[in-house]
Amino acid sequence: MRDLIRPKIELRQVAKTYASDRAAVLALRNTDLAVADGEFVSIVGPSGCGKSTLIYIVGGFLPAEGEVLVDGRAITGPGTGRGVVFQEYALFPWLTVRGNIAYGLDRQGVPAVQRNQTVERLIGVIGLQGFEDRFPRELSGGMKQRVAIARTLACEPAILLLDEPFGALDAQTREIMQDELLRLWLESRKTVLMVTHDVTEAVYLSNRICVMSARPGRLVEEFRVELDRTKPREEIFLSDAFNRVRNQVWLSVRKQALAAESKNAP
Ligand SMILES: Nc1ncnc2c1ncn2[C@@H]1O[C@H](COP(=O)(O)OP(=O)(O)OP(=O)(O)O)[C@@H](O)[C@H]1O
Ligand SMILES: [Mg+2]
Repeated sequence: MRDLIRPKIELRQVAKTYASDRAAVLALRNTDLAVADGEFVSIVGPSGCGKSTLIYIVGGFLPAEGEVLVDGRAITGPGTGRGVVFQEYALFPWLTVRGNIAYGLDRQGVPAVQRNQTVERLIGVIGLQGFEDRFPRELSGGMKQRVAIARTLACEPAILLLDEPFGALDAQTREIMQDELLRLWLESRKTVLMVTHDVTEAVYLSNRICVMSARPGRLVEEFRVELDRTKPREEIFLSDAFNRVRNQVWLSVRKQALAAESKNAP
């Protein structure tokens, strides 16, 4: 049963400083965030404000100050319940498309018949039939990203952590993958934390959008999005509610981007 009180993901005063040879970089400061079970939250903000850093921390790949709780327990590292799609898609170069998608299922000991069914279905979803036996070096950026998404979806993690998952895709494929993600979310109500640069995408997909300030990043503003997502895409895009929120978020992101520029000015 869903726990309606305890958040699925909770960040309390999370901060991250990268140590470096030259100067330490404060990438993230005082970040509090609670994501409810089944909620879809997007993070938008200027380049370099710490969005990927936030995903790495929740993924358990990067230690940080403060507390990160999943199901009320402090995380100690990566876990199979949290599937991550990295901004740089990070495929295993020694495995084919099929091998990459099957990787997590193999590790979990899923029987071959079931594993193959899942892999073939996902290859269809990402439109890579005919490329099953290619290696990552033989694929375009958009194709690699689709494989990375399929590899994460294959394991059906309860939490999806997505770092600009559709950033390298052409417009058509991007729409198909957005609708696929939306369908998956409507069916399974996974908890999703997604970073995107695309405000329209964030409004189309999320229940809530958090805007981050320029580096050191902090969550500065948030917007709730109430839309009936079972309606067709075109209808949603034409609705007043959709366009109202999109304008609000766009203005907020622009404000932060301008602040980032003035900070970087000589
Ligand atoms: N390993 C690292 N060592 C030192 N500094 C780092 C490291 N990784 C990131 N940074 C710095 O931390 C800040 C936040 O980086 P991060 O990649 O989280 O930003 P981002 O919001 O994801 O940017 P983008 O939108 O361009 O992907 C940046 O200023 C970056 O230069
Ligand atoms: Mg990033």
